[in-house]
Amino acid sequence: MGMYFIFVTGTAGSGKTTLTASLIDFLTQAGMDVAAANLDPAVERLPYVPDFDVRQYVDAGEIMRKYGLGPNSSLVAATDMALTKATEIREEMDKLRANYVIVDTPGQIELFAYRNSGRMLLTLLSEDSKSVNLFLLDSFLTKEPRSYLSLLLLSSSVKFRLNLPQVNLLSKVDLLTPQELEKITAWSEGEELIDALGIVDDNSYELASSVIQYASSPPTPVSAIEGKGLGKFTLKFREFSQAERTTTPRN
Ligand code: GTP
Repeated sequence: MGMYFIFVTGTAGSGKTTLTASLIDFLTQAGMDVAAANLDPAVERLPYVPDFDVRQYVDAGEIMRKYGLGPNSSLVAATDMALTKATEIREEMDKLRANYVIVDTPGQIELFAYRNSGRMLLTLLSEDSKSVNLFLLDSFLTKEPRSYLSLLLLSSSVKFRLNLPQVNLLSKVDLLTPQELEKITAWSEGEELIDALGIVDDNSYELASSVIQYASSPPTPVSAIEGKGLGKFTLKFREFSQAERTTTPRN
């Protein structure tokens, strides 16, 4: 039995790295064997110690300098280059001994929403293992109904592109007042969000309805800083682990 991969995706600054660190602590305290993988070639400091680090294979800063690229395109190029090191990366992944591998990804969301290379990199890591994608909707961006709907649309693109089971999380909920959280939760039921959009043309109405339906369930509120909400969506990971826990405990 292989490992279970938990990919953490979302827009820039939505809290992926912080949530990765919190999830490592949370699952470790729950007695799970957890490994962490960093896929962000440009990150300077991490609040966790990665067991796999893409920076070993590509250097986004060097790509910027060498090819005269900007920060965004150098990240895209770095992912393409990482794919050329597929054999070494596979060997490294095969050395991991864990029930769960939490994978922190770059905020360059187009890698996962539009490009095949993001999907290829995730597949290279996880091969035939079970996996789930956590998509973070930044609370700060969800306060306005049209921004919230746009984020749901982006989440749908990522789900469609990656073709993985996906759980939407409302990140940084500690930054919302109880009233704001209540309002966003009510929007998540569907009809209220459509009403909150105000006047929209027929096509936008159809699009909004389809996006809400495709998202299927409201995002789970979490706060990585306060460790809130992690138990709710990690429950299914725990069930999976108990049923299929065959890997050797890590030192
Ligand atoms: P990129 O890799 O640059 O896309 O960022 P990221 O998505 O990994 O976000 P990161 O974890 O670096 O967090 C961005 C900022 O949000 C940091 O200042 C964090 O301290 C803050 N942050 C992350 N999670 C939370 C949270 O749950 N609550 C609060 N209040 N702040 C948070």
